Amino acid sequence: MFDLIVKGGTLPNGRVADIAIAGDRIVAVEPQIAATAARTIDATGDLVSPPFVDPHFHMDATLSYGLPRVNASGTLLEGIALWGELRDIATVEDMVTRAVAYCDWAASTGLLAIRTHVDTTPDHLRGVEAMLEVKARVAPYIDLQLVAFPQDGLYRTATGRANVIRALDMGVDVVGGIPHFERTMQDGADSVRDLARIAADRGLMLDLHCDETDDPHSRHVETLAAEVTRHGLGARAAGSHLTSMHSMDNYYVSKLLPLIAESGMCAIPNPLINITLQGRHDTYPKRRGLTRVKEMQALGIPVGWGQDCVLDPWYSLGTADMLDVAFMGLHVAQMTHPTEMARCFEMVTSVNARIMGLADYGLAPGCVASLVVLDAGNPTEAVRLRPARLAVVAKGQVISETPRGDAALSIAGRPGTVRRRHGAAT
Ligand code: FE2
Repeated sequence: MFDLIVKGGTLPNGRVADIAIAGDRIVAVEPQIAATAARTIDATGDLVSPPFVDPHFHMDATLSYGLPRVNASGTLLEGIALWGELRDIATVEDMVTRAVAYCDWAASTGLLAIRTHVDTTPDHLRGVEAMLEVKARVAPYIDLQLVAFPQDGLYRTATGRANVIRALDMGVDVVGGIPHFERTMQDGADSVRDLARIAADRGLMLDLHCDETDDPHSRHVETLAAEVTRHGLGARAAGSHLTSMHSMDNYYVSKLLPLIAESGMCAIPNPLINITLQGRHDTYPKRRGLTRVKEMQALGIPVGWGQDCVLDPWYSLGTADMLDVAFMGLHVAQMTHPTEMARCFEMVTSVNARIMGLADYGLAPGCVASLVVLDAGNPTEAVRLRPARLAVVAKGQVISETPRGDAALSIAGRPGTVRRRHGAAT
């Protein structure tokens, strides 16, 4: 007798299987499981996936759109200035309330692991205090990984570096940075070396906002790759955004990409945000604001889509749905071949799990019993439709359910004929 069986679902690899769960673990994945369970979910014809994973978010700022005013220019720099006002008037309670509300949205879409950058610039470190509380509060259903992020630069403020160390000492998991926002290119390169050494010395992961600019000469990713190689950080290190690579000289990129591949580091582009933030100083043609995704993947560099922002000083929309992120990324990176479309689904699930270093992630015996049942027939269809999440299971518990949208389709014309929108329609 199991606690839960998810019956007849189609896994992302196309295999049809029953999944048996006991406690917080998957204990069997087989074509048919005859045993009984306290609860059974019929997933026949539905896609059953491991949960969505977001390796890049800003939860201390989320759901604050319009506070204290909107970003009129739509630029990264006005967003940073706006956040600089908000972070000093927001209380710990404000940030906890907004972040927990966001986590509830996320859980309802099947997004059950999130890496969030936490601004460590203000000496009060209220954001760190708030996000540590949120991490503990949502732990039963969301794995939250915190990054010590000196939003205003490691060296631009008197206490920037000290506050990163304080945040790490308070229990923040990952070392962050923003070299392109330091005062000079030299300061930026120095910050990369400094932060990589801090991560190596402490045995922590490293994830830098890196070259989030349209400047083709912003080349901190080169230093990052070299330092990752020097310290042997490998896939424990990531470069987020990397938008300058869009504008770099092609010859230089032909030297850069093998260096990144050699280091073993990961890349995290954030298509919803950078398609709107970048190119704001261009007339026409306007640059697209996305790094070279397919070119990095061709060299074996792990590239995962990140969400970055929802309703905050940098982005006025957002849904907490990683399929929206994959959908935008697919378009901007022109990943329209069938294998590329399917890869976009992996870029919000298994690839991101690898980037975050999640243990026991997946749909196999022994894995954590977290999964999502989608009203779609396969991963590409899920990206196309961004369909209902019929059930979300977190650590063995069914935490969210959504009815199928069949009723509307039946009213539309052929009751009993069109069962659902996706390819498994009967
Ligand atoms: Fe970011």
